[in-house]
Amino acid sequence: MDIVVSGIRSTGNLHLGNYFGAIRNFVKMQEENPCYFFIADYHSLTTHPTPADLHSSVKTVLVEFLACGLDPEKATLYVQSDVPEVAELYLLLNMNAYVGELERCTSFKEKIRTHPNNVNAALLTYPTLMAADIIIHKAHKVPVGKDQEQHLEMTRTFASRFNRMYNVDYFPEPVAYNFGEDLVKIPGLDGGQKMSKSDNENSAIFLADSPEVIRKKVMKAVTDAGPTEPNQPKPLAIENIFQFLKIFSSTDTYTHFNDLYNRCEIRYGDLKKQLAEDIIVFNNPLREKIEALKNDTDYLGKVARMGAEKARESAAKTIREVREIIGFRSM
Ligand code: ADP
Ligand code: TRP
Repeated sequence: MDIVVSGIRSTGNLHLGNYFGAIRNFVKMQEENPCYFFIADYHSLTTHPTPADLHSSVKTVLVEFLACGLDPEKATLYVQSDVPEVAELYLLLNMNAYVGELERCTSFKEKIRTHPNNVNAALLTYPTLMAADIIIHKAHKVPVGKDQEQHLEMTRTFASRFNRMYNVDYFPEPVAYNFGEDLVKIPGLDGGQKMSKSDNENSAIFLADSPEVIRKKVMKAVTDAGPTEPNQPKPLAIENIFQFLKIFSSTDTYTHFNDLYNRCEIRYGDLKKQLAEDIIVFNNPLREKIEALKNDTDYLGKVARMGAEKARESAAKTIREVREIIGFRSM
């Protein structure tokens, strides 16, 4: 049976990109596979949150995991820092992770460009920590969005390097996974490439956003003056808006606006009004569950403790075996 592992950084509220890229798969996979889903709070330290912010972000992600339908009885839901074995495996993997290959990683190059004053060592070794997260449970499948593809490739490199180095067949080589379909990339509302909370808050619709906020964000989404000739290809920002229609609206609605576009009769205001209402219909049940769960501290604590115990059991077994393979043996 394939083992499934995935995580989301605790950097605040989850957005629709996280949902469609990752969490929707978590919900499906927990029905059939042994799953480990965690809140990556060690990873979030690269941006130096205050202790209060760190704690509240972890809680937010846990609440939102549960609101999306993750079931602590089916999957192991845990907080990364509750499993310090991950940090030990990270240290061990770093011994065989080369600075050159880490520097070539696209996400690292992007961080250097966008945050030149905070290029810390953990940013460089982000892929080894991520690999440790995954292989600590000897995972086979990792449900993630398209942006994580390269990190998964590096995870396979580190796993197979370990196997080769110690002449063992110990770690499987995990793959990024989306139910046999291509990995997903949900665009931003700002005309940009990817919905993301880190880069531009206006690009993202959060699961916790109220209907008023969703309407406001969608109405502000980047569009243009409209096509001037019939049946022209759509510029990126417009393509993005239509991708949203495809996800959230009915086929009839999509076809209606697509025909108007092709006839140069599109009015983006009408399209956006309809799209906002369709997103709200999707989002409302999630937002209501978030509201209902967010103050249930006892339940949240219970879920986190239960997950930590199960995750540690699996992680501790791996660390025991890895130590033995490496040659850490008692005198
Ligand atoms: P963010 O990019 O907003 O900081 P994370 O990096 O914590 O979010 O992403 C957590 C998960 O959500 C990963 O599996 C990632 O691939 C997925 N994800 C994030 N943004 C998108 C998006 N726009 N489209 C598809 N998947 C996404
Ligand atoms: N790097 C992932 C992201 O930014 C989050 C993450 C950390 C992760 N560890 C992981 C995802 C392990 C899958 C498996 O989205």
